[in-house]
Amino acid sequence: MKQTAKAPANIAFIKYWGKSDAALRLPLNDSLSMNMSGAYTVTTVEFSVDFHKDEVALLGGEFSDHEVFRVIEGLNRIRGRAGVKHYARVVTKNTFPKGAGSAASASGFAALTLAGFASLGSRIPEKELTIFARLGSGSACRSIPDGFVVWEKGNDNETSYARSLFPSTYWDIRDVLVIVDKRMKKVSTTEGMETVTTSPHLSSRLAAVPPRMAAIQQAMNEKNFVRFGEITEEDCLDMHRVMQTQNPPLFYWNEATERIMSAVKSWRNASLPVYFTIDAGPNVHLLCEGKDEARLLEMIKTLRGVEEVILNKPAEGAKIISEHLF
Ligand code: PMV
Repeated sequence: MKQTAKAPANIAFIKYWGKSDAALRLPLNDSLSMNMSGAYTVTTVEFSVDFHKDEVALLGGEFSDHEVFRVIEGLNRIRGRAGVKHYARVVTKNTFPKGAGSAASASGFAALTLAGFASLGSRIPEKELTIFARLGSGSACRSIPDGFVVWEKGNDNETSYARSLFPSTYWDIRDVLVIVDKRMKKVSTTEGMETVTTSPHLSSRLAAVPPRMAAIQQAMNEKNFVRFGEITEEDCLDMHRVMQTQNPPLFYWNEATERIMSAVKSWRNASLPVYFTIDAGPNVHLLCEGKDEARLLEMIKTLRGVEEVILNKPAEGAKIISEHLF
């Protein structure tokens, strides 16, 4: 049976950088994210006895051989769990540039996992779906549950999973993704994380994350946006400090990134409560409350070097939809 899933990208406020187990993609720390309404992947999967090999296609783009290999590994895990041997056809489409540090692999593996099991008629609990998505790409587990999501690092395959902390309707905030470079990042997150232990700052980061997780959840409980924004920025800078002090060092920012970071400071001084966070790429996520969206969008128009702006509200998690891609 053919099934199609739509899964959001997610933006982490407390970020994941580094694994305790590379094969199982167990993270070194807990993380916390929000699903993005404007950046998502749609994937159709069909398993059939009539297929003689797995076929994987990306509409509007091309997968590398390595990406195809990772998708087929994901299909193998789904086949193993469901106890079937049929080959599959997978067609997928992203609403945003792949590889530009905007979590295409997260939405991609979340959509593949949900559509894959659904197309085999397997009913898998949400927690287990997050575990299968994690095995494809760590942060993909956070794109399965609704809204604001915590990924518990756990200590083995069964205990490292994601769960919804608040539904998407809980808090009217915005993540305005400002794209300054659509190209693939030079060093993938998988590769970049391999040398994380060479950073002298890793141990202080790992000690800082648990109290930061508690503090951000308290700020979210109180809907204290300023505190929430301060903690998010602090964690972003902390993760990039680790990246930049690894051997070899990883610099994901460019000039436009740094210009936006300093613009954010001056906008705050002009009483616009806006905070930034940045993943493994040069693009900047700007966070504000719903009431300040229009003002922020006006300010973004004054920035140089912006290629595209993607406006996101908190979104639901991965869902089955009825329109197929083939
Ligand atoms: O799951 P991956 O391999 O896409 O790694 C994601 C890493 C960051 O985006 C940099 C941080 C995060 O928690 O999303």
